[in-house]
Amino acid sequence: METITAPFYDFPKYYDLVYGSDWKAEFDFLQACFQKHAAGNVRRLFEPACGTGRLLVKLAAAGYRVGGNDINPKAVAYCNARLERHGFPPSAVVGDMADFCLDQPVDAAFNTINSFRHLDSEADALSHLRCMAAALRSGGIYVLGLHLTPTRGEPVDEESWSARRGNLTVLSRLWVTGRNQRRRQEMVGMSYDIYTPTRQFRILDHCSFRTYTSRQLYGLLGRIPEFEVTSVYDFGYDVQQPIEIDSRSEDVVLVLRKR
Ligand SMILES: C[S@@+](CC[C@H](N)C(=O)[O-])C[C@H]1O[C@@H](n2cnc3c(N)ncnc32)[C@H](O)[C@@H]1O
Repeated sequence: METITAPFYDFPKYYDLVYGSDWKAEFDFLQACFQKHAAGNVRRLFEPACGTGRLLVKLAAAGYRVGGNDINPKAVAYCNARLERHGFPPSAVVGDMADFCLDQPVDAAFNTINSFRHLDSEADALSHLRCMAAALRSGGIYVLGLHLTPTRGEPVDEESWSARRGNLTVLSRLWVTGRNQRRRQEMVGMSYDIYTPTRQFRILDHCSFRTYTSRQLYGLLGRIPEFEVTSVYDFGYDVQQPIEIDSRSEDVVLVLRKR
């Protein structure tokens, strides 16, 4: 198969198929969190690292005023074109989630599938959380989902799945190629096999995620006094099923409320 090595985020159409088909569980969960954990009404939303806007467009259609940022201009262009196609303002901007400020505070924000772990230093992670705290009104919430490194038990090291829309199919595989505990880096290889009626090819990519044990995550959050952790869930996205984080926890979704 023809193989190209390139950043997968530069292919928003394929990204959106691979990660976009699972939007409904997150969409329902986010709204349930707004209802349960935010003080007052939630109307204005912000998604740092919004990518193709797979969630933003659905939330805009549900009546929320949405905005987002992403460091990848191709993802932002895709997101804005899609928002406009559905009759909403093109409210995504190219920006760094570790360094941004909003004109107006929002009621809630979310960042669900590990994007936060793209921030590869404690300074950037802190800066991101400070930007988020400043972007939220008091009583507003930030829903933050990521994989922790368990300190007991074996972490999951490989994942594969497929997605299909019309005559486009993508087979995805992600695998951990290494972990550096001292630097807190998890290196991940990724391959995406793309099948269209006229072409079949493979995109190979890799990236590094910052690792967090539960202790490291809570240590970081303890440095942002504006936020309190109101509840924790897992990637089952069931607002009726909060979890307790322990040394085996991997997928966690924290609800942080601005004091
Ligand atoms: C896994 S995708 C998630 C996209 C979207 N949030 C979603 O749920 O589909 C991660 C995104 O983070 C973006 N990203 C990585 N580092 C970033 C940074 N420092 N600031 C803003 N976006 C960033 C990437 O460009 C990519 O679109």
